[in-house]
Amino acid sequence: MKPTITPKTYRVKSFGCQMNVYDGERMGELLSEKGMSAAPDGEDADLVVLNTCHIREKAAEKVYSDIGRLTKGKTQKKAPMIAVAGCVAQAEGEEIMARAPAVGMVVGPQAYHRLPEMVEQAAKGQRSTDTDMPANAKFDLLPKRRRSAPNAFLTVQEGCDKFCTYCVVPYTRGAEISRPYSDLIAEAHRLVEAGAREITLLGQNVNAWSCEDEAGRTVGLAGLIHALDRIEGLARIRYTTSHPNDMDDALIEAHGEVAKLMPYLHLPVQSGSDPILKAMNRSHTAESYLKLLERFRAVRPDIALSGDFIVGFPGESEADFQATLDLVDEVRYSQAFSFKYSPRPGTPAAEMDDQFIPREVMEERLQRLQALLNRDQFAFNKAVEGQTCEILIERKGKLPGQWLGKSPWLQSVWYAEENGGEGALGDLATVKLVEAGPNSLRGELV
Ligand code: SAH
Ligand code: SF4
Ligand code: F3S
Repeated sequence: MKPTITPKTYRVKSFGCQMNVYDGERMGELLSEKGMSAAPDGEDADLVVLNTCHIREKAAEKVYSDIGRLTKGKTQKKAPMIAVAGCVAQAEGEEIMARAPAVGMVVGPQAYHRLPEMVEQAAKGQRSTDTDMPANAKFDLLPKRRRSAPNAFLTVQEGCDKFCTYCVVPYTRGAEISRPYSDLIAEAHRLVEAGAREITLLGQNVNAWSCEDEAGRTVGLAGLIHALDRIEGLARIRYTTSHPNDMDDALIEAHGEVAKLMPYLHLPVQSGSDPILKAMNRSHTAESYLKLLERFRAVRPDIALSGDFIVGFPGESEADFQATLDLVDEVRYSQAFSFKYSPRPGTPAAEMDDQFIPREVMEERLQRLQALLNRDQFAFNKAVEGQTCEILIERKGKLPGQWLGKSPWLQSVWYAEENGGEGALGDLATVKLVEAGPNSLRGELV
């Protein structure tokens, strides 16, 4: 790599989960702190950070093709300095360094506090890799938060000790750690001061979060939620993603006690078949999962339920798949995410190769599952038609006077103001939900 000049502008492109979005924001803040500025949309950036995801196949291929496009002038006029961050960096950093000379640095999800110094080195022509995993170290070294969208993310927990047999996350994000209580309260206050009205607490297993509070008592996520409830100016609290096995009574009860805690739960189940759940090492059954949901519905009858599904896990029979459809029928999700199983290098399921499900079967199952999930999502939207609720305005729509936001149940809602008024970003608008579509609702300002 030839020496270049120290970059003045940057662009961070985040892929994958919300935790990557959070990390991407923090990398941007770090670079801004060092005097760089975000490249305006449509303009070249001197430094491009590819903040990658490794969860499903073609992840690495995508990174190489993004690198190719950047160096060949397809993405921007001038080739930028390139940093590869995120979970592909963690999993395949060495190969990336060897295969892609245009990459100036590779930095893993637990090491990105070092990004500015690595950029300095790259400017001198020295390439570097840091994929160390010191627990919590980066958080202490990140700048204080100064900006926030109305709906902010706050990573409270990282990593995973569950080792589901199909999943790369325990390898790319490392062991479960909880950020300290006082740090989180301080960061939440700063986000609210910077304009956040809603905070979504993030973790690969967010409900595994546990720490001592200011009185020295060990509290779980519910304790943190109760503390955030006391922050004036914060209107809404959400959390994602939970694991069924880390659910405790206090968190379920919090949904009946904390008005700011939104009636929404994302609780992945992956499959409705117990033998498949066992082969996945999920350590819950379809029944124990359904029982858990019943308890949430008992304290918060209107709670919107969401989940994740994998179809075509090795050995999945038609009967196993039918059990998944039956579970969906019973739950009636308000929205859900479903994926075709993707063998990931280094995971135990990738070794179950004698039992792979043919592509066409997987595709056909995915379509059948998604048809049910879409049906339920539309039905859920229809069910709230006519109700009046608050929506948090997150964005301007394409048309003048149009605003977009989320309902308490995390549905996308839009409304148009008669006189095209300004300044509603971050407001909680009271709207009547007048027309439900499959993916969004139209509201009218009350
Ligand atoms: N920690 C969360 C989310 C992990 S990743 C959880 O436990 O639920 C998000 C989703 O990606 C998973 O819930 C799963 O549905 C899907 N996923 C993970 N690995 C996958 C793989 N190898 N193939 C297909 N989907 C996968
Ligand atoms: Fe992956 Fe399972 Fe951990 Fe979720 S709980 S991150 S699916 S290993
Ligand atoms: Fe992807 Fe890593 Fe998130 S693999 S889903 S970016 S934890």
